Amino acid sequence: MFRKIAISAVSALGLMTGVALAAEGGGHIEDVPFSFEGPFGTYDTHQLQRGLQVYTEVCSACHGLKFVPIRALSDEGGPHLPADQVRAYAKAFTVVDKETGEDREGLPTDHFPANTAAGAPDLSLMAKARAGFHGPYGLGINQVLKGMGGPEYIVAILAGYTGETKEEAGTTFYENHAFSTGWIAMSPPLSDGQVEFADGAPNDVKHMAEDVSAFLMWSAEPKLNDRKDVGFKAVLFLIILSSLLYLSNKRLWAGIKGKKVH
Ligand code: HEC
Repeated sequence: MFRKIAISAVSALGLMTGVALAAEGGGHIEDVPFSFEGPFGTYDTHQLQRGLQVYTEVCSACHGLKFVPIRALSDEGGPHLPADQVRAYAKAFTVVDKETGEDREGLPTDHFPANTAAGAPDLSLMAKARAGFHGPYGLGINQVLKGMGGPEYIVAILAGYTGETKEEAGTTFYENHAFSTGWIAMSPPLSDGQVEFADGAPNDVKHMAEDVSAFLMWSAEPKLNDRKDVGFKAVLFLIILSSLLYLSNKRLWAGIKGKKVH
């Protein structure tokens, strides 16, 4: 009996989320099983490194990451690059020194450059500024099951071009069902095989899109691994503390509660 109710509740929820996804209009955003989802999920270091490469070779031409310090690339729980590679990465940028006002080579303590070419938004926090899942009926219950869907939204944008274009007031717009208005001013940035990965990972549009989205999730939440680790330990500690309190409580009251009242 109870099992039956539980099963029908689960299937009703499934049905609701399905209906909501279909009814949302605009883009259909597919769930991607990213490694960092769920209570114990953590970033995949290699994926973050590939994502950094896609960002550097493709996206950085138009988009900045101005809130992200370059030194974070060496963080454990991030792309975890060796210090000399991070120094070399920073060196490739020219920055204006705040004190002298003169140009100098970038240092790991600098941030990624800002870039807003052609009105491209900064991507530092994009993965957390967008939600892919809203349903059912705008209640956001999907998010409990699948996460906010920010990285999924970015994947959907990058892989969601239909190939149609239109001109409006001198600007070309590209049809993209994941974008809220259906027409985005960003030309399709990725094409199959565009970036060569050192680890030989697949480099079709879908995989590159997933890698760069994972990287952008890291840039938006660089301490995710630590947060989950501390969260897990805190919950474990609370479970142990609760059991000890329960047992002491029972013991303390044993003499009184055990007696029958006549
Ligand atoms: C040629 C320049 C250019 C390149 C290269 C480029 N973008 Fe864009 N991107 C834009 C512009 C312009 C917009 C603003 C589009 C609009 O608002 O219609 C944009 C918007 C976006 C958005 C925001 C969508 C939203 O909801 O507001 C995301 C996410 C994005 N780009 C990701 C990427 C990623 C990831 C890459 C690299 C794989 C990339 N872009 C490469 C120009 C570019």
